[in-house]
Amino acid sequence: MTAQILDGKRVAAECRRRIHTQVEQRVSRGARPPGLAVVLVGNDAASEVYVNAKRRDCQEVGFHSIVERVPATITQAELEARVAALNATPEIDGILVQLPLPKHIDADRITDRIDPAKDVDGFHPYNIGRLALRRPALPPCTSKGVMLLLDSTGVDYLGARATVIGASNHVGRPMALELLRVGCTVEVAHKFTRDTAACTKEADILISAVGRPGLVAGDWIKPGAIVIDVGITRDLQGRLHGDVDFERAAKVAAWITPVPGGVGPMTRAALMLNTLQAASRASDRG
Ligand code: GUN
Repeated sequence: MTAQILDGKRVAAECRRRIHTQVEQRVSRGARPPGLAVVLVGNDAASEVYVNAKRRDCQEVGFHSIVERVPATITQAELEARVAALNATPEIDGILVQLPLPKHIDADRITDRIDPAKDVDGFHPYNIGRLALRRPALPPCTSKGVMLLLDSTGVDYLGARATVIGASNHVGRPMALELLRVGCTVEVAHKFTRDTAACTKEADILISAVGRPGLVAGDWIKPGAIVIDVGITRDLQGRLHGDVDFERAAKVAAWITPVPGGVGPMTRAALMLNTLQAASRASDRG
């Protein structure tokens, strides 16, 4: 078998086109465009790249966007005050505080301060709770983006065996909740799992979100599985690597995501979708 490529770049571009159309319709009704505020603390090089990409996406879909740059020396109280000010800004529908944050900042307390209705990252306990209760409001972007990719394969979720490797708060756990919500039988492998390969070999859907190149070997994959690689590791030459041994896995799987060009663009597309949804709900509330 040679796997079909799950092209996140293409699916994300389609998604942005649909969002752009909806923004045009919104604006033609006399509503303002959705607004996204990104708060960038310090000058981490990788964060600069991510934030610039989000800005370009906003421009393409017709959103109003601002980037608030604050020094790495900002205090917890000052950053919380920035978030409070954005919570109170009517033309801002979505707030994203770019991670990682400097060590002296408690990131959880910052997340807790974002108005859940503007939490387009989907990291606030309210939004994770909504997802766990099968009533998603603004779900986390990476797992939402992965679900859009899975949907594009036409997979039948009901009773499918899904394995998620990685149990992080921002990716692995919400991913497991999304898969459970649509009817999969879900297993989560994590750093204390004794035999991860035993968890993957029966998986119809395999999602790896660890950040360790080569972790998922070709013989870990069930023939005909859908393999989604969320891991991204940059080597010393600046090249990106996923968790999955792509060459070997592609010989066994039915579908597989490339790195780069798989999950990354879908995470950003999901952020645009969440921002549009937040804006629509804000309009509905008047
Ligand atoms: N840093 C890297 N990815 C993300 C993301 O999805 N959200 C936030 N807030 N920070 C990030």
